[in-house]
Amino acid sequence: MFSLMQRASRGDDVYEEDASVRALEQYVAELAGHDAALFCASGTMSNQLAFRASLLQPPASILCDTRSHVYRYEAGGIAALSQATVYAAQALANNGHHLTVQDIARDFVVDDRDVHMAPTRLISLENTLDGAVMPLQEMQAIAAFARSNNVRLHLDGARLWNATVAQGCSLKDFTKECDSVSLCLSKGLGAPIGSMLVGNKALIQKARHFRKMMGGGWRQAGGLAAVAQWCIENVWPTMQETHDLAAYLAKGLVQHGAKLSVPVETNMVFLDLAGTGVQLSEFSTQLEAEEGIKIGSKEAPRDQTQVRLVLHYQISKEAIDRLLAAFGVMAAKARSNSSNGVNPTPNSPGGRSAYNSK
Ligand SMILES: Cc1ncc(COP(=O)(O)O)c(C=O)c1O
Repeated sequence: MFSLMQRASRGDDVYEEDASVRALEQYVAELAGHDAALFCASGTMSNQLAFRASLLQPPASILCDTRSHVYRYEAGGIAALSQATVYAAQALANNGHHLTVQDIARDFVVDDRDVHMAPTRLISLENTLDGAVMPLQEMQAIAAFARSNNVRLHLDGARLWNATVAQGCSLKDFTKECDSVSLCLSKGLGAPIGSMLVGNKALIQKARHFRKMMGGGWRQAGGLAAVAQWCIENVWPTMQETHDLAAYLAKGLVQHGAKLSVPVETNMVFLDLAGTGVQLSEFSTQLEAEEGIKIGSKEAPRDQTQVRLVLHYQISKEAIDRLLAAFGVMAAKARSNSSNGVNPTPNSPGGRSAYNSK
């Protein structure tokens, strides 16, 4: 990656003069089946630019999953930048796995001239969400619903690369259903930085203007773009191996008595230590000290039992085996202490609601 960066172009992207950035934007637009793409600094920026460039006139609301990143973890950007409110829908129809068209229809605010309401102008989906895949058929059903109600559909596809691999679909299969899509380069793909926004020419032109206004017009971004393209071409094809490794990790943890709070479908493992007797803070501390593996927080409160483990293409099976062995020893010790009446097993629900898996 470093040698690619050395050889990349050094044009000024604010003037759209950088060859590597232009090549990346064209490459991703073609992959996604859209007119145009914009290279942005982060997933938060590409999501928020999509909303800002789509919602030009208040009052407006966005409808999204109550767990979605755009709603919970983007610093209230929707209200601050796009003057829109959010209606957050719960994934009730499908056991908490993913939003369905029925969930969307339940919370959709029709523009029926009731002046109390902020009509839904945009539906925002996230795929994968917590590593779980929204099936293509469901996205197609929601897209048809959006079209028939004349509202836009945005996809936070920070981890869509993983969803395509898990579903055996092309990127286009998902992205062509949407008006705008954010695709992160720095998550599962492992690029140093960046996220792409794709959409039609008018949307991308508007987003480019807002990107500059927000201070996100980067000048010599060629090195970053060249590396990002390399990651799409070279890391994306290896994702199935990472998913298999995540499944192997999950299976091993369950064999040692742990639970999973979300089913493992891609590269994320939501581990729940409740009932194992192993404290998260002690596990983190010991794993780092003895194996050089960092997970969660060494300062995790005593009643926190849940932690998210995210795998990427540079994590080896050997590292996973070391983690599993260390966990096995700690879980066995906790079991023997508990049968001797020492250090009773903590059984807290932790910070996140337990997921009722199928
Ligand atoms: C689903 C999802 N969307 C958006 C983002 C935001 O990306 P960034 O951290 O690059 O702003 C993240 C970050 O983890 C994410 O998981």
